[in-house]
Amino acid sequence: MSNRSRLFPALALLALLLPFASARAPAGERPAADPAVEARVADLLSRMSLEEKVGQMFLGGWSPQFDDKEIVDGAIGILSNTDEVANVIAADRRARSVRHGIPLIFSRDIIHGYRTLFPMPLGIAATFDEAAMETAALHTAKEGSAQGLDLNLGPMLDLSRDARWGRVVEGPGEDPFLARRFAAAAVRGLKAGGMAATLKHFVGYGAAESGRDYNAVDLSESRLRDLYLPPFKAGIDAGAQVVMAAFNTLNGVPGTANPHTLTEILRGEWGFDGIVMSDWDAVRELVAHGVAADERKAVEKAVMAGVDVDMASGLYRDHLVELVKTGRVPMARIDEAVSRVLRVKFRLGLFEPAEKRRSLDPTTAAAALARPETREAARDVARRSVVLLKNDGNLLPLVAPPKRIAVIGAMAADAGDHMGAWGALGRREEVPLFLDEMRTRLAAKGVTVDYEAACDDACRSTEGFAAAVKTAATADLVVAVLGEPWWMTAESTSRTRLGLPNHQQALLDLMAATGKPVLLVVFAGRPMVLRDVVPKTRAILWAYSPGTMGGAALTDLILGEANPSGRLPMSMPRAVGQVPISYDRLPTGRPWKPGDELATRYVDEEITPLFPFGFGLSYTSFTISPPKLAQGTVRLGDTVSATVTVTNTGTRAGRESVQLYVHDLLASRSRPRRELKAFAMVDLKPGESREVRLEAPVADLGFHDDHGRYRVEPGRFEVFVGADSDTENRAVVTVVE
Ligand code: BGC
Repeated sequence: MSNRSRLFPALALLALLLPFASARAPAGERPAADPAVEARVADLLSRMSLEEKVGQMFLGGWSPQFDDKEIVDGAIGILSNTDEVANVIAADRRARSVRHGIPLIFSRDIIHGYRTLFPMPLGIAATFDEAAMETAALHTAKEGSAQGLDLNLGPMLDLSRDARWGRVVEGPGEDPFLARRFAAAAVRGLKAGGMAATLKHFVGYGAAESGRDYNAVDLSESRLRDLYLPPFKAGIDAGAQVVMAAFNTLNGVPGTANPHTLTEILRGEWGFDGIVMSDWDAVRELVAHGVAADERKAVEKAVMAGVDVDMASGLYRDHLVELVKTGRVPMARIDEAVSRVLRVKFRLGLFEPAEKRRSLDPTTAAAALARPETREAARDVARRSVVLLKNDGNLLPLVAPPKRIAVIGAMAADAGDHMGAWGALGRREEVPLFLDEMRTRLAAKGVTVDYEAACDDACRSTEGFAAAVKTAATADLVVAVLGEPWWMTAESTSRTRLGLPNHQQALLDLMAATGKPVLLVVFAGRPMVLRDVVPKTRAILWAYSPGTMGGAALTDLILGEANPSGRLPMSMPRAVGQVPISYDRLPTGRPWKPGDELATRYVDEEITPLFPFGFGLSYTSFTISPPKLAQGTVRLGDTVSATVTVTNTGTRAGRESVQLYVHDLLASRSRPRRELKAFAMVDLKPGESREVRLEAPVADLGFHDDHGRYRVEPGRFEVFVGADSDTENRAVVTVVE
């Protein structure tokens, strides 16, 4: 008998003696190791066969062909995509009725809402508002959890500075600090709504070369640790229990077979004791990556690198038993992986006499969907997510609207483009269309709203242009709704061109040529190149895919019933040739200087983005006073505390985003010109002033070296506090040992 198995009876006894202490930590906290849970895990493990253990290491998708023999045989641990409550109830009963009665985890991709869709995650990040981020996750989870779901396959935490990558819309944008806040808020919100989070995709997926999905990623250890890992660490510290490995190679090693990231960093350095799952079929993809000769070898590599659960490929079930029997995979590794799955099941409370499912029934589950308060929350978050990029001559809001308005563009009346990719259970008929909202609400003010689609949402033909021009010419204002159709965004939708697709630019040009003022509303899944777009417009509202209530939210903003406060979570480039682009660039040895031909530059374009990270206008105006530091000199364990007075100098109530950036003036490595370290939103009435204090721990001002060691180097740091990443409003703080 090994030492390990000798321990089991003792642990089982302990399990009986200890009252079941719930290991569920409060939202926002990492669960502590719980001896009672560990004892129950060990006891259960000691009674399972190898085949049953391997069964726990499989995530399978539900489909009408799903055979519950898989459950009876104990061949599945996690079941995904059971969209009918009846399926959950049936599968759950089955699982509890067989030997050991190990409950299934029910999972699903609920990327921005289940039935009620919130804005796509990039839009949620654009709120620059942690409370809004948490609210979106909370309602998402409430709808999912009421349908019996336990585990969300999200949030996606992949940073990206490359708008060509279609998945930027699923994530928090380009900045690690914003992404950390987004991660923690999402995990807290999901948990409060009754679901667990899966942090994905570990790691570096958003840095795909040429912005092409699934492509290779090459990152130095310092860049990996300074930028790409922190959001995951923040999610784990907030209590996330599951991590999904990424499809891509990182420095030549596929995410599904990378012991450095999955075991050394995640387990070793961070002490993560939850589940690591592969991405969809990614174990099999190790063969295509060219690192495994065949599927058997792929399984061995994935499991030994630290992948506990195989999503979808089924190859663990096909090969793991034999790999253990032939000594290629040690039993201890299987026990470790299965312990993690069981530990998470205990922590989620799934074993407690069906606690979570007892009350599940199709009628109450249906009543939990599309509830008025959820729709109201989706509308509120959508309003906060929209970024006002331009508003010449205060075209907006339309407080005294003109008599005749032409709405042009198929997206104005296409529910799919409102909802966005990963539409889950979203229903087109539950979407108040932008066109209808404008029509109805403006009719009450005596305004006529005409409409022409002009072309389909991708604008592949110009046939309808003449009619659109005619309609625009008779109106006092043109509201053009253009951008990327929803199906051009998210997974496997990389683009090489970032302008308006197909004939949309030509349509916009024709609208401008009518001489009527043009308000452009953009639905899009990524930053786009707006160089030729901006001059054709008087005002631009950037709306991402705003979700189920997006049409109503946009109308609220246009009519001035709400005031835009969204901020860009990614820099908006001037040209595709600038990407990847981010605000935190290094100075180079030849910083850009006007007229200097040997400075870092392009001969045909500026080096700066068209709109910087953090940018967004309001219908009112604000001033932010120079920052006052609580202490000009701080020690390593202290906090940098900067106070500014924010004043609403305009005539409307509004929200200003205050952002704090630092710049390490002299260090052993070249440091970014700006790094976001804190942000806050402040609501102000016209004429009102308020003091806003932003704090950044000095411990957060450091960086990693080539060996992955983190340090804060004493010295002088510029502290910028302003409304976006280009602010010059600054003070200087000195950090001493
Ligand atoms: C995506 C994941 C997703 C999974 C399951 C994959 O293609 O990369 O983000 O969770 O499918 O739907």
